[in-house]
Amino acid sequence: MAPPIKLNLRHLETNSKGYAEFLPLGDIHLGSSGCFVDKVQANIQYCLAKHVYVATMGDLLEMGTKGSVGAGVYEQIMQPQEQIDAMIEMLRPLADAGLLLGMLDGNHEIRPHNTTGIQVTKLMSAALSGKHPVPYLGYSRWNYWYVGGTGYKIYLTHGEGASKKKHTKLKKVLDIAQGVASRADLVCMGHVHDILFEAVRYPDIDPKTKKKVYIKQYACTTGGYHDDEGYVAMKNYEPGLVGSPKIKLFSGKKDIHISM
Ligand SMILES: [Fe+2]
Ligand SMILES: [Fe+2]
Repeated sequence: MAPPIKLNLRHLETNSKGYAEFLPLGDIHLGSSGCFVDKVQANIQYCLAKHVYVATMGDLLEMGTKGSVGAGVYEQIMQPQEQIDAMIEMLRPLADAGLLLGMLDGNHEIRPHNTTGIQVTKLMSAALSGKHPVPYLGYSRWNYWYVGGTGYKIYLTHGEGASKKKHTKLKKVLDIAQGVASRADLVCMGHVHDILFEAVRYPDIDPKTKKKVYIKQYACTTGGYHDDEGYVAMKNYEPGLVGSPKIKLFSGKKDIHISM
């Protein structure tokens, strides 16, 4: 199988207010009894109505398997194939409208990959690529999105590891933003099931004017659609905010607004 694309280069349409809106959608865990599927459907309808672009952030599916951690294999209320089929149908209207910019893996989609070699996110993205391409983005991906003539460097990753508290969740995405993705305008990370964001100003020298300038970078965690029972309660994790952040990318002067 071919690997994921190296760079997800896209052109986003600007709305009448001078920006393109982007909603990172992940940590749905479809098939788990704790999944808030109505809230996912409401956000998909919002995106279709307002022409909001979406990239999926991984853990779309619960994918409890015999060897996976926890009791998901017994507790999930849909079988893995039902989860895949239902997720494709949920996302198809976004894909057909040209609003689905790509799909990341999460650790829950990696479960069948680890035991069988089958890449379910790759199969879902292929099934959704018809009228418009829906690239498979792997676990982390660099993106370059034009909004009008303005280009944005965007790093998307599912994330990994445990974080119990707000400040440790935010630290994870800030560490990525100040590490491997330090040249990105925007870094979005899933996995922590919470909506948190921060902006950082980096001093730099403009090579043309030889003057000190500041480069602004934004980092956010991308929420989730799962309750705080089971694993979350057992480990005493702080429950996170349900849903997705809404991100405005402005044309003309580079500017990013994030809201919940
Ligand atoms: Fe998750
Ligand atoms: Fe995850």
